[in-house]
Amino acid sequence: MPGSLRLPFPWFTLRCKLGGCHSSTHPLFPLSAFASVSEPATSSNANPRHVAIIMDGNGRWARERGLPRIEGHRQGVENVRRIVGIARELGLPYVTLYAFSVENWRRPAEEVGALMILLEIFLERYTRELEENEVRLRVIGRPDQLPDRARACLDRALARTAHFTERTIVLALNYGSRQETLDATRAYAEAVRTGRENPAELDWPRFTRYLSTGDLPDPDLIIRTSGESRLSNFLLLQAAYAEMYFSPVYWPDFDRAHLVEAIEVYKRRERRFGQTGEQVRPPAPEAVLHQ
Ligand code: FPP
Repeated sequence: MPGSLRLPFPWFTLRCKLGGCHSSTHPLFPLSAFASVSEPATSSNANPRHVAIIMDGNGRWARERGLPRIEGHRQGVENVRRIVGIARELGLPYVTLYAFSVENWRRPAEEVGALMILLEIFLERYTRELEENEVRLRVIGRPDQLPDRARACLDRALARTAHFTERTIVLALNYGSRQETLDATRAYAEAVRTGRENPAELDWPRFTRYLSTGDLPDPDLIIRTSGESRLSNFLLLQAAYAEMYFSPVYWPDFDRAHLVEAIEVYKRRERRFGQTGEQVRPPAPEAVLHQ
């Protein structure tokens, strides 16, 4: 038992303190099931390691200016480029951008077509910039269902940036958290069927390997622009301990100052990961002196 601090429930902690906690835990609550709660609890946060953004409000931005929706998306893509540069300057190692959801196929065909062309143009023009800045591009979702041309541009950009390790931009493309969960479950079930997995050994870290985010840290901060306050099928499982920040600003107008403000708010939050405030706060200097 690595230490009672890792356990989420006081009941378990109490059992440990009483000496009753050993490898044979309660069958209904195997400790391994809570392994994801082993992240370091912290009250005074450094910069987030992983910021995920729901880029909302392109359509309203355009409508309020009497422009076609597509112009809002075009400005949205320009802003992706700006924000990726700013995130790099701010030293954020992982940024995930919700660019196209599985539900977005329901939009008018003309808008979907325009979004796909914008994606191609973005990848064609921007891959060199990613390379120059040593940024790796990753994708989550089901990119295989994108139109051939968009997929070809994407594959090329992924291959050309795959060797960078310091910074990663993740595009969520044809992404939906429920679909991702089903895909992961299907893959896991197949691994059980072929003897590569044993359900008795299943815990959260192991299951996360089957998610499309398997090699990425969970988001620390999720930002949604445009005043909406929902996750819309985005990183539902990965968001378990993420801090949420909802900005009223439409995505094309979301700039450096807005991102910095979101990060400042995040830094002031207390992240407890199931523990109490007292447990995660560093002791006051005088308390340390009197020890
Ligand atoms: C939401 O705005 C935004 C989207 C559905 C897609 C976001 C896409 C981009 C920023 C451009 C594509 C990105 C890349 C990297 C190529 P909305 O249309 O729902 O706005 P509304 O709610 O105001 O109508």
